[in-house]
Amino acid sequence: MLFGRGACIQLPEKLKALGVKKPIVLTDKGVAHTKIMEDIKQLLIDSNIEFELFDDVIPEPPVSCLEAARAQAFEAGGVDSVIGVGGGSAMDVAKALSLVLKHNDKIHNYMGVNNVQQRGLPSILLPTTAGTGSEVTPIAILTDTETQLKIGIVSQLILPDISLVDPALTDSMPPQVTAATGMDALTHAIEAMISKKTNPYSQALALEAVRLISQSLRQAYQDGSDQHARDQMAAASTLAGMAFASSSCLAVHALAYPLGARYQVPHGQANAMLLAATMRFNAPACQREFSRLANAMQLKPSTPERFLQELEKLTQYLNIPTTMASVGVTKDIIPEMARDACSNKRLMVPNPRSVTISDSEDIYYSIL
Ligand SMILES: [Fe+2]
Repeated sequence: MLFGRGACIQLPEKLKALGVKKPIVLTDKGVAHTKIMEDIKQLLIDSNIEFELFDDVIPEPPVSCLEAARAQAFEAGGVDSVIGVGGGSAMDVAKALSLVLKHNDKIHNYMGVNNVQQRGLPSILLPTTAGTGSEVTPIAILTDTETQLKIGIVSQLILPDISLVDPALTDSMPPQVTAATGMDALTHAIEAMISKKTNPYSQALALEAVRLISQSLRQAYQDGSDQHARDQMAAASTLAGMAFASSSCLAVHALAYPLGARYQVPHGQANAMLLAATMRFNAPACQREFSRLANAMQLKPSTPERFLQELEKLTQYLNIPTTMASVGVTKDIIPEMARDACSNKRLMVPNPRSVTISDSEDIYYSIL
């Protein structure tokens, strides 16, 4: 993982180091029309690297999106590597694509935990948001449109070969995206800190991520041209990604997934909506960790209650809609969403306080 302004310039050199000749570049339509993609294409052209461009990655990417990218790569022929440029969606599809291109297999065979036997094609990821941390995590999330569930492919074998984390790629993020993705990173750090699977390595990364986010997220949201704030958020996002890669995300993510799968609420926004309410539920089991998090945020006094208030204040400051009604959720659908959330054992089991279906309903109702 290479970090710093200008890191993306090393893309051609790193492709050559990996011994590949024809990457497929995955991105979304939003990024495809920015200067970021112009510069990346130019870098490849200047280095005489032939490439294929797939710019149809969509948010909450369904399996059909992966299949479309696979079809394009087959049609082009000779694709020997994958580059993901974008937020979590583009990077997650890139990780999944590297597997199916290499092994010519169905993606469903890899879904779940540790169902990947061999690495896929060489891959390089370049994040353009400061949030998901997908560039350093062994996880790819796709949406199964039939079951309306988000499905994870979780395996160390899908980590990219190289990540180029260049904060300059995040400079043009609009304020709303800065806010939502920044709250995703904050959720990663907090969940990594309080997970039943946490460890000193994960906690050190999480606390530093929380410190950086509390210093810089408001500023990056207010003034996107503030490079220092952008740099700090890019670092925080990657640190938080590494933190939860070794200790897991928890109930906030499990409860947020049905909002993404059923209502297409952007992942970061869905987490932001649920973060404070779920942490209030977790509070009896996390008093010590919340004090440490409050301390990392330099809150006075560094108490669990002050920490919880800060989560609410920050969400409000970032103008993130916090009610379920604001995204179209009605009361009658909540029991189904609660069942979906609790079916995600990977995320619910390591939560520090056990979460029943009835608890999940209560958390949803509290933000209705
Ligand atoms: Fe996340």
